[in-house]
Amino acid sequence: MAKKDSPKARVAELRRVLEEASYRYYILDEPTLADPEYDRLLRELAELEEAHPELCDANSPTMRVGAAPSGKFATVVHEVPMLSLGNAFSDDKVRDFVARIGKETGDEAPVFSTEPKLDGLAISLRYEDGAFVRGATRGDGSAGEDVSANLRTVRSIPLRLRGKAPKVLEVRGEVVMPKADFERWNEAARARGDKPMANPRNGAAGSLRQLDPRVTAQRPLAFFAYALGAVEGATLPPTHSETLAWLRELGFPVSAEVDVATGVEGLLAYYERIGARRDALPYDIDGVVYKLDRYDQQRAMGFVSRAPRWALAHKFPAQEEATVVESIEVNVGRTGAVTPWVLMQPVHVGGVTVTRATLHNADQVARLDVRKGDTVIVRRAGDVIPEVVRVVEDKRPLDAKGRPLHPPYQLPTECPVCGSAVEREEGEVVARCTGGLYCPAQRVQALFHFGSRRAMDIEGLGERFITALVEFDYVRTVADLYRLTVDDFVEMKRRADERDGTVPATAKAGKVATRWAENLVAGIEASKASSLERVLYALGIRDVGESTAKTLARHFGALDPIMEADEEALQQVPDVGPVVAKRIAHFFAEPHNREVIAALRAAGVHWKEGPPRRASEGPLAGQTVVLTGGLASMTREQAGERLEALGAKVSGSVSKKTSFVVAGEAAGSKLAKARDLGLDIWDEARLIAFLEEHGQ
Ligand code: IVH
Repeated sequence: MAKKDSPKARVAELRRVLEEASYRYYILDEPTLADPEYDRLLRELAELEEAHPELCDANSPTMRVGAAPSGKFATVVHEVPMLSLGNAFSDDKVRDFVARIGKETGDEAPVFSTEPKLDGLAISLRYEDGAFVRGATRGDGSAGEDVSANLRTVRSIPLRLRGKAPKVLEVRGEVVMPKADFERWNEAARARGDKPMANPRNGAAGSLRQLDPRVTAQRPLAFFAYALGAVEGATLPPTHSETLAWLRELGFPVSAEVDVATGVEGLLAYYERIGARRDALPYDIDGVVYKLDRYDQQRAMGFVSRAPRWALAHKFPAQEEATVVESIEVNVGRTGAVTPWVLMQPVHVGGVTVTRATLHNADQVARLDVRKGDTVIVRRAGDVIPEVVRVVEDKRPLDAKGRPLHPPYQLPTECPVCGSAVEREEGEVVARCTGGLYCPAQRVQALFHFGSRRAMDIEGLGERFITALVEFDYVRTVADLYRLTVDDFVEMKRRADERDGTVPATAKAGKVATRWAENLVAGIEASKASSLERVLYALGIRDVGESTAKTLARHFGALDPIMEADEEALQQVPDVGPVVAKRIAHFFAEPHNREVIAALRAAGVHWKEGPPRRASEGPLAGQTVVLTGGLASMTREQAGERLEALGAKVSGSVSKKTSFVVAGEAAGSKLAKARDLGLDIWDEARLIAFLEEHGQ
């Protein structure tokens, strides 16, 4: 026995404390030791180990920083082969799988362990008497590479097991690079001028195959356990799900998404549930895995070739696919932003067929060096617009001399819609058409924005009609909308149909449908009664969103003082900084814009004006309020408006900066957080009393 204060005893104590801290941090997600304290103890341990080399241990927490490189990887033969999984891409294949199991086990409603299919690198970890001895890649399933030194640097892989460990335990699982870490890594790599990683899976695989473990130690890797290999000296529980729970107790991370489900319906519901959460998960997954839970049933099902008949991978549609660029085009947006995009050969990605993908901006085009004819990888995740991720360089078409067939792409210097110059302001990534509202593309977008629900809310005025209105020159400015008659719309539609060769059956029969046009004209008429904040937002001043429009309206009370305000006066408005102040002042200095406003007024567009209500003047000036839960006497929105009228700023999230929280019925996490932070909490009665006292 080591004496109590001996270096040996201190080393053992430090290792115990540090291992416990890692377990609490990585497995339980309940950190108990602050980072600086952890680092201090780790340093103390490293110093002791350096002074007493006989106390060194390959599984000491100090080894997490990476041992010195040792040449190439040795081969490891897996005592129990690492199998692969059968794949299913459709619900029917899942039904077949469950039916097969039902028939062969006689269990009508078999229970399954359901797990995410992690998209990383499969590895096997071997522990003897609770200590990590070796870790290997899957390789061909029979033999892989010994990457023990690299695996020791993965913080969430235990180097020593907790509790009563079996004589031999092999744990299989996936090493992944979390998505957020991957993004951060690539951002830093680009900033350094290094080559970014292609995707998180390549990131994980490349990191584990580093010959220098100190390099691996710098990479953000995580591990999740999902299966066993060889086991000696332990009695396993009767089901896989219980085994996963046991692995968690031993100190292994197990994905928080694992669950159990019964029968086909249970499996498909799990697939849907995880599919819906896919983008929100911290790591990439490419499907889910179903495993028959009871080991006796697994044995009854057995194996075919190298895959178990008791498990199935149900894959999600791929989020990345390759296709060929047909041409590179640009769009011109409301503010003139010129956005390059590619027209591609149709490709099925993320569950839908797409032919267009965005290139975002000129910088991105230069970074990717996308050219016509290139084979590109496109990505579509969730609802986001498909984007080009990278070019497959060795598939670039070449000419007879082996040079690229097409030159690098250049953004046009003239707007493809109106011919005005395209310019890029100093320090901006976005290039813009300088044509302003002279540019039909910008006109279409400006009109569309003007009529949108949160602006003037003109029912039925969709982008197709607007495009035709601009194309046939019925409207040039937003004010022109108010001059349109039913006849104008009908004639416009006739011209558009004629051009498209889509003359409707009713028109052929000599009848003209006019109901839609009457509705549109009524919608435009109804939009005349508006509010100052909506009109301000609808004008489409760059950087003036709904919330800025609202503060401007409240601060000035009327339109004329806003039109006359100089940059300095505008900067008095909360949240309006020098850039936005300049944009607003420039907008109203433009004679053309003043004409449009005069025309809107002349057409009968009107709104209520009142005295200025300076945020700095109300009884709640400078205070930030959060509303949560349901109120009985008014909606949260109404309560918010009344509080704002007294100078408060209403925010959606609770933080230290929150002045007080109004909590109604069934208030949830925001209220809990407010309590944690010790904030002042108002109930509805107190709110009403306060509002009434201040004339609201
Ligand atoms: S179990 C006997 N579970 O999928 C079954 N594999 O195609 C052995 N994978 O090489 C594998 N997540 O890399 C299993 N929850 C999970 C998984 C999973 C990802 C990977 C693993 C394996 C491949 C099999």
